[in-house]
Amino acid sequence: MKINGVPYRSVWVDQTDQRTVCIFDQTRLPFALEILRLSSSEQVAHAIVTMQVRGAPLIGAVAAYGLALALSADASDEAMEREASMLAATRPTAINLRWAIDRMLQKLRPVRPEDRVATAYSEAGLICDEDVAQNEAIGRHGLELIRAIKNRKQERERINILTHCNAGWIATVDWGTALAPIYMAHDEGLDVHVWVDETRPRNQGAALTAWELGSHGVSHTVIVDNAGGHLMQHGQVDIVIVGTDRVTANGDVANKIGTYLKALAARDNGLPFWVALPSTTIDWRVQNGLTEIPIEERSPLEVTTVTGRTAAGHLETVRITPDHSTAANPAFDVTPARLVTGLITERGCCDASGPGLQSLFPATTRL
Ligand code: MRU
Repeated sequence: MKINGVPYRSVWVDQTDQRTVCIFDQTRLPFALEILRLSSSEQVAHAIVTMQVRGAPLIGAVAAYGLALALSADASDEAMEREASMLAATRPTAINLRWAIDRMLQKLRPVRPEDRVATAYSEAGLICDEDVAQNEAIGRHGLELIRAIKNRKQERERINILTHCNAGWIATVDWGTALAPIYMAHDEGLDVHVWVDETRPRNQGAALTAWELGSHGVSHTVIVDNAGGHLMQHGQVDIVIVGTDRVTANGDVANKIGTYLKALAARDNGLPFWVALPSTTIDWRVQNGLTEIPIEERSPLEVTTVTGRTAAGHLETVRITPDHSTAANPAFDVTPARLVTGLITERGCCDASGPGLQSLFPATTRL
């Protein structure tokens, strides 16, 4: 995607030393666009844990480069396995992280230690390129859904899409998942407007999705997380499109906390609820999302405080709850497949079900 006319991906290797991994520090957005230069696996792990880098496909891609950085320091079998486990443990819910590390290990284990660094950078680069291609394909398939809504509407009526969290280009290597069809619809001149859930407590919607859409010129309105149901009841939402951190083999969907409530409201109002994902987000080993997907529990401080920019222009964190109140912070929830209208993947759209997923990804063709 372009920022001020310059094309960027959300992760890249510095061209001068061919080694340092560059990302945008997402904790600084939307107020500052700062590039973080990562030169060790520890720095990569820290960036993932603190959510300087986040979004399921992106943490997988960045962790793959983290392993390449680790091997630059020590390419032995022992170090490789240890650093891979360390990186894979940084966040528990998004399966893309474990997928990327597993893929790297499969590629690297048979390689001689002296050749591992080059192989690791090359494989991480492939993971990135494939992610971009998959998300672009998701965009094309999701665009068909938006065009179909347009065809059912009056000439001058706009298409209202609700999204939760941030599943845009900054959450992937490029394009995004849920936002890819929206960018494409906007680019071909469809009048789309996006309701952006703020997505407490980390505010990925208010900070990141709003920033992305605004930078691309897409009309959008930030709403509090509880507004979506009301808007649906009043005919102001045509479709919900969200991303996901893990989809089970039978189509259950783990995504940012609050997604389940949007799916319930969409069902009650007879509205389509679609989930966009690259196949790297499918966990074929897991059937029951409610019992088998680990849900990350983050710091209560994210709930008891809010962070924003002061009039003087610096970031400030203030407490919003009584000092004596405790807080709980489950970061994801699971939307059962029965509430999901369908899945938008790089191979097309399908039912959120075992047979639906298998129709697009028969076992023999899975990546
Ligand atoms: O905690 P985060 O910000 O990493 O959570 C991100 C999400 O829940 C996204 O919706 C999901 O990763 C899909 S990103 C294309």
